[in-house]
Amino acid sequence: MINNCVPVRIAGVGYSLPETVVTNDDLTKIYDTSDEWIYSRTGIKERRLVSGEEDAIDLGFDAAKKALAKSGIDPNELDLIIAASSAPPQLYPAIACHIQSRLGIETDIPAFDLTAACSGLIYGMQVAKGFINSGIYKNILIVATDNNSRYMDWSDRSTSILFGDGAGAMVLTASEDGLDDILSIDIKAKGSIGEFIYKDNVGQNCPLVEPCKERDGFVHMNGKEVYKFVVKILPPYIEEIIEKAGLKAEDVDYLIPHQANLRIIQAVQERLEYSDEKVITNIKYYGNTSAASVPIALAEGVEKGTVKLGKDKTAILCGFGAGMTWGAAIVRLRDGIC
Ligand code: UT7
Repeated sequence: MINNCVPVRIAGVGYSLPETVVTNDDLTKIYDTSDEWIYSRTGIKERRLVSGEEDAIDLGFDAAKKALAKSGIDPNELDLIIAASSAPPQLYPAIACHIQSRLGIETDIPAFDLTAACSGLIYGMQVAKGFINSGIYKNILIVATDNNSRYMDWSDRSTSILFGDGAGAMVLTASEDGLDDILSIDIKAKGSIGEFIYKDNVGQNCPLVEPCKERDGFVHMNGKEVYKFVVKILPPYIEEIIEKAGLKAEDVDYLIPHQANLRIIQAVQERLEYSDEKVITNIKYYGNTSAASVPIALAEGVEKGTVKLGKDKTAILCGFGAGMTWGAAIVRLRDGIC
């Protein structure tokens, strides 16, 4: 039976980062750059990168276990796994299928990946919310994980300085007390400017037909155009999401944005007139970990005490990236979620 609008509870959030640290000074060994150039334009000092055979599946599995532990939901009680990934080590099997297997889930629950780049967590939340609201599924695990560093052109100093690797996970479930933890949510895309950030798959045509042009498998980004676009659309968009939740900017406790560039974050902060305490950033240490950056910032913020949890605490989560895609949610941050 399908119930209309079963409310959603955010039950657990976790994250995982590789151990290996690469600083801006380290990058000066591979191209002509400086800590000053990178830090002043992006707010990044260092990033964590996968090393050896480590990959986004390992990180995603670790983040998933932590989010599940916080949620108190057994992996075998899950109804669906969604992995948000745009730089996966394999296109298929989907990362979500790998995670299902590593969690030792014995039921054949569905598992799939979605590609919304750095908006992946918000896209995953919107999809999961639809399934929970409609009563189709109850317990859903979202894993946002990427090993961006493996797909960088490490001679392209304007793009490769930005990205780091990492994973975040969130467990959503049907709310038992009638309170919905997703106060408002929205996702958007503009495919007509997709060329701003792209990554081709490497391949070739059948030898019996005309060959196609050779492609590399690297992430290509027109940083300037991305920057201009995001700074224009994001601040008013976030105001709309706050309004949709029936709130005013000052009513929301935290802004936990995608960590792509500190100057983009500051543009939103200025528009909302938020103090530094309300804006959670860790870009300095991890760079842009794409879809994982929001759950990492949330869970690490709680660990560090910069984010306080409680039934009356709320946050703006927002992402933007390749597609171009963007999305935002106003969420309740209950005690014990991370
Ligand atoms: O989640 C995905 C979302 N992506 C983003 O949010 C990216 C948004 N964009 C940005 O953050 C900025 O565009 C970047 C930080 C990526 C680049 O900054 P920019 O001010 O747009 O630099 P640019 O690429 O236009 O390059 C300006 C100059 C160039 O030199 P000339 O041609 O003016 O002589 C570059 O060659 O800076 C040079 N440059 C560098 N110099 C030292 C580019 N990268 C570097 C570098 N070190 N790493």
